[in-house]
Amino acid sequence: MIHELRFMSPGYHIFKGLMWLCCATSILCLTAKPLDVLVVTPGLTGFSATATITRAGPGFEVALHRLKTAYTNIAFSHVYLYNRSIPDCGTFANNAQYILSQWFYEQDGDRGTMPIYMVTTGCFEPALLNQLAAAWNMFYITVCSSDEVIRDKSKSPTWINTNFFPTIFFGDIFYRLFLMQNWTSVYVVLDLDSIPIYQLVFGALDKLVRPKVRTVNIQYSSRKEGLDFHALLKSFATQSRVMLFLGSASQLRLLLLSAAARGQTTGEYVFIAAVPFPYKVQGIFTWQTFDQNDEIIRAAYRSVIFVTMVDASPSGLHVTEAQLDDLKSKWNAEFKRNPFYGNQDLRDEPSIPHLASANAAMEMLAQVLNESMTDPDFDPRNGRALARRFLSRTFDTSSGRISLDQFGDRTPSVSVSYFNDTTGDFEVYIRSNITKGDYRYSAVKPVSWFNGSHLPPNEPMCGYMGDKLECRPRTGIQTRELFAGVGVAVVALIVGSICLGCLIRSRVLKDNGAPWWTLNGGLLEASARRIFSLKFCQSLKQLQRYPSQAPD
Ligand SMILES: *[C@@H]1O[C@H](CO)[C@@H](O)[C@H](O)[C@H]1NC(C)=O
Ligand SMILES: *[C@@H]1O[C@H](CO)[C@@H](O)[C@H](O)[C@H]1NC(C)=O
Ligand SMILES: *[C@@H]1O[C@H](CO)[C@@H](O)[C@H](O)[C@H]1NC(C)=O
Ligand SMILES: *[C@@H]1O[C@H](CO)[C@@H](O)[C@H](O)[C@H]1NC(C)=O
Ligand SMILES: *[C@@H]1O[C@H](CO)[C@@H](O)[C@H](O)[C@H]1NC(C)=O
Ligand SMILES: *[C@@H]1O[C@H](CO)[C@@H](O)[C@H](O)[C@H]1NC(C)=O
Repeated sequence: MIHELRFMSPGYHIFKGLMWLCCATSILCLTAKPLDVLVVTPGLTGFSATATITRAGPGFEVALHRLKTAYTNIAFSHVYLYNRSIPDCGTFANNAQYILSQWFYEQDGDRGTMPIYMVTTGCFEPALLNQLAAAWNMFYITVCSSDEVIRDKSKSPTWINTNFFPTIFFGDIFYRLFLMQNWTSVYVVLDLDSIPIYQLVFGALDKLVRPKVRTVNIQYSSRKEGLDFHALLKSFATQSRVMLFLGSASQLRLLLLSAAARGQTTGEYVFIAAVPFPYKVQGIFTWQTFDQNDEIIRAAYRSVIFVTMVDASPSGLHVTEAQLDDLKSKWNAEFKRNPFYGNQDLRDEPSIPHLASANAAMEMLAQVLNESMTDPDFDPRNGRALARRFLSRTFDTSSGRISLDQFGDRTPSVSVSYFNDTTGDFEVYIRSNITKGDYRYSAVKPVSWFNGSHLPPNEPMCGYMGDKLECRPRTGIQTRELFAGVGVAVVALIVGSICLGCLIRSRVLKDNGAPWWTLNGGLLEASARRIFSLKFCQSLKQLQRYPSQAPD
């Protein structure tokens, strides 16, 4: 059993040995004995999710390496807790409390003198581990995902979060975008076979939008049968101009190909696509896939508004490009060096947000410990008190700036972009601006949309079918109706006269043999009026029916 559950502590024993040697040879060491701190990281291994310790691990290692030289007064050691037989987030969540508590009591964690802090990646288990952290008064940081319960400080007194994902705002991201543009009718299309985060967005948005925004929700399964994009776009055209498409880049491509063929990519229609962050595993949204449709798709991408939930670019992280490149090369070196991460050939593209967030968590911990050590009342074993020292603060770490709110939750940074036709790339025009839990957008620059600086309205001025009553050119329509009326009258007259002629002729001939051109005035008047009034009534009815066909 135990051989499956491994505890790993890179460098820990070597470091302790060195410290002992140092202290034995120098009396100075005794006066400046460093604070020993143990950091524990329970987590899922493998590649079934992005929030695994094998994907974020080098973030911890590179940070620890840096801290060792930066803070000689704190001695960090680090332990991973995992069970390689556990295949996915769900199973790990079921086992996480057992794994952590077994280790904790084996360490005498409840009685020992060394402070133990938990810094985890977190997939489905953050709230479960939080229960133990709260009970043990253990300081706790999540770096890849969190939970709303972090806002309840009676249940989460020791928890802070450096995770970048806007978990709590999945619905607001899009709802606020609709409100900003006064879009009141939106198509929301979800591919159930794409990454799981789209389903969370779909659900969160649905809970939020009514009554201000009316949505048509459509779900499909691209793996099972796909969606008839042509039919979708046809119905879309009758009810909206804005579509949120929650599917992969390749599905968006199929949608845009159909839209281009139908003439729905000329600036009147908006297609909103979204990614958690640019990451190969989650699909890269680019017009260029080197096939015969590239140019069509490139032109169609001008109709796409692109939402990036986690801005992992240097500017989004608030670091320079050189700083991020330096970190990336260190993380890559760690992947290559350590077989534990299972990614020595870097085939699994390193996930920047997770690595940056892990790095930042460790640096923040060191910074706050270092500050607190000057305080004589500071008890490093009191997780509650330690957590309070992080609230409502902004930290500048080597992997970016991290602002925590009054709950210790990180403020995410969502960006929205338009497509620049010249560069063939997206450009950010608004960013999220979250104050006290209220999600808003702030402008970065004006949007560029088909040479204009406004996104189209949700309903064209003349209605979805272009047939709004007030939009029909007034005189034109009347002339047309008039012509129709006159035409009908003329035809009626001719037909009427012919019939009348025949009738009179037959009567005249039948009657007293008088010449047929001797007209009977009374007869003529009666017949003509009947035919006339019939035609007039019909055309009136048509006129009445026409306006009522315009959709409300
Ligand atoms: C590891 O996980 C497997 C599968 O869930 C389980 O059978 C096994 O007991 C676990 N090992 C330990 C040491 O908990
Ligand atoms: C949305 O409507 C408000 C109020 O009618 C208006 O002030 C604002 O300019 C509109 N915004 C857009 C983007 O059309
Ligand atoms: C640690 O704290 C001391 C005292 O406040 C400060 O002088 C020092 O710069 C800090 N170390 C780092 C690496 O920030
Ligand atoms: C597109 O990119 C080019 C080159 O960087 C730039 O000059 C231009 O202003 C951009 N256009 C828009 C609309 O952002
Ligand atoms: C964010 O919004 C606040 C007001 O809600 C505003 O004062 C601040 O300037 C905004 N920040 C940015 C970066 O636009
Ligand atoms: C947009 O502007 C460019 C350059 O000014 C021009 O070549 C292009 O035809 C314009 N496109 C549209 C749709 O107006």
